[in-house]
Amino acid sequence: MHSLLLKLIVALMIVSQVQSTLRASFGEACDKGVRCDSRSSLSCSDGICQCIKPNEMTFDNTTRKCVVFSSERCSYTAVEILETAQEKRWTEKLECVENAICNNDGYCGCKSEFFENTDGFCVPKRSFGGNCTSDGECRLDKKLLCIDGKCACNKTEATFDPFHNECAALAGSDCMKYNRCVINAYCPRRQGYSYTANICTCRPQFKQSKHGLCLINYGGSCHPESSPCSEVWACINGKCQCHFQDHQFFNTTLGKCSSYVRGPCLENISFNDKDEDVVSFTCVENAECKADHGVHECRCKDGFIENKRMCNIAHGQPCAGQLCDEAANLICKNGRCSCPDFQIYDNSISKCRGLVGSKCILKENNFCIDGAACDSYRGLATGEGVCRCISASVTGPNRKCNSNGPNGNSAKLEVSESVPDLDAIVDNNVESFETTLVFENSLNITEILSPV
Ligand SMILES: *[C@@H]1O[C@H](CO)[C@@H](O)[C@H](O)[C@H]1NC(C)=O
Ligand SMILES: *[C@@H]1O[C@H](CO)[C@@H](O)[C@H](O)[C@H]1NC(C)=O
Ligand SMILES: *[C@@H]1O[C@H](CO)[C@@H](O)[C@H](O)[C@H]1NC(C)=O
Ligand SMILES: *[C@@H]1O[C@H](CO)[C@@H](O)[C@H](O)[C@H]1NC(C)=O
Ligand SMILES: *[C@@H]1O[C@H](CO)[C@@H](O)[C@H](O)[C@H]1NC(C)=O
Ligand SMILES: *[C@@H]1O[C@H](CO)[C@@H](O)[C@H](O)[C@H]1NC(C)=O
Repeated sequence: MHSLLLKLIVALMIVSQVQSTLRASFGEACDKGVRCDSRSSLSCSDGICQCIKPNEMTFDNTTRKCVVFSSERCSYTAVEILETAQEKRWTEKLECVENAICNNDGYCGCKSEFFENTDGFCVPKRSFGGNCTSDGECRLDKKLLCIDGKCACNKTEATFDPFHNECAALAGSDCMKYNRCVINAYCPRRQGYSYTANICTCRPQFKQSKHGLCLINYGGSCHPESSPCSEVWACINGKCQCHFQDHQFFNTTLGKCSSYVRGPCLENISFNDKDEDVVSFTCVENAECKADHGVHECRCKDGFIENKRMCNIAHGQPCAGQLCDEAANLICKNGRCSCPDFQIYDNSISKCRGLVGSKCILKENNFCIDGAACDSYRGLATGEGVCRCISASVTGPNRKCNSNGPNGNSAKLEVSESVPDLDAIVDNNVESFETTLVFENSLNITEILSPV
């Protein structure tokens, strides 16, 4: 070490005494008459020009100089003994290999985004997907880490953004650790909206997926590969829509696709051709998700009636909206699902039926109560009619036809004095007739049909 230093001092002293004579270059023969080019840090060793520190330097063909390998000493204190026996000291620096600089500690170090390979050269750090053995071999500026031998992003908080060629923080992750958030997300703190939040947040119109991506929301323009919809939507005809068009509709209040009765409520959906996700869907009102042999479907809750793939409220049950059993012709009246005026609920067929005097549709069979039929109204060809007793008249205050004994239709109907002539009223004005008579609308038909 001491002799090396002396030799170096000598070499450096030569540097300062360079004359304008021609010098031999690297690998060329040298002797007392032919000196090596000391400006290129060469010295004559065994008759050949070599780098002054052969083990720590290499000859750079481009600059035609000997340069110091990375992690080797590049800064020396030169000492000159003057005639006065005093020492003159100064710092001599040797050049480092390409992409390295002589650091303050006196050693060559790779510039940022270069790493030292096993030969002592500085090579560019690897980009995404490049081979690596340690984090230091991956580009730090791109926030890459060495994961399983490849430069990659930390999956728990980031993903590779191919457009910006770097790792981007996922929605829901700390954005201050990264240069950017995933596509379609922003860092609220950086945008100045808030000085506390530093979590990547999806921009409006984009929905945060389970995987922390911000994907196109319902109705947005999409492309299956380049701009995918969030996994809860499918890209259909260039727009993000419900996956199961025939079984779902978009509930704007919920911002979700709701499944009709017997539509899917839990489904494996392949997403981006890569991931498969179990996606859950809400069911229409009054329906719930039920599993049947591994298939999850929306079914009406107990006490509700399936009708046109919706769940309707049954007769007599409390109702808030208009979800009463449509097939039964029920409406929401006084807070309960009831038949309209002049109709009565028939438990045996779960339908409202027209009492005598009720409007009816001529071709609709069995709408009028037993013993009555739909009779054309005023002879007009409107297709509408009025329920009238088949045999003759009306009994009692309940607008029913008299029961005709065990065989049904032959006995004479009893006419009640208290009931006005129905035909006369109907002929006069059916509307006023309906409004003047208030009727119990949810009577038990068996009670009505029993003899008074
Ligand atoms: C260095 O350059 C010389 C000519 O310029 C060439 O002959 C030689 O092969 C080069 N050496 C290396 C190691 O590239
Ligand atoms: C990366 O490593 C793999 C396997 O070790 C090798 O086959 C491949 O050639 C390497 N790639 C590069 C660019 O060195
Ligand atoms: C990835 O990020 C998580 C969350 O910040 C952290 O706990 C974990 O140590 C990171 N993994 C690596 C390999 O750095
Ligand atoms: C949409 O969802 C809301 C909230 O659950 C619900 O009240 C509403 O009835 C739904 N709309 C439709 C049309 O089902
Ligand atoms: C989704 O698929 C996986 C594997 O293919 C299966 O184990 C799972 O039961 C499926 N889930 C549903 C809800 O279908
Ligand atoms: C209808 O009335 C009859 C006779 O009162 C009764 O036996 C029957 O249980 C009632 N049905 C309903 C659904 O209330």
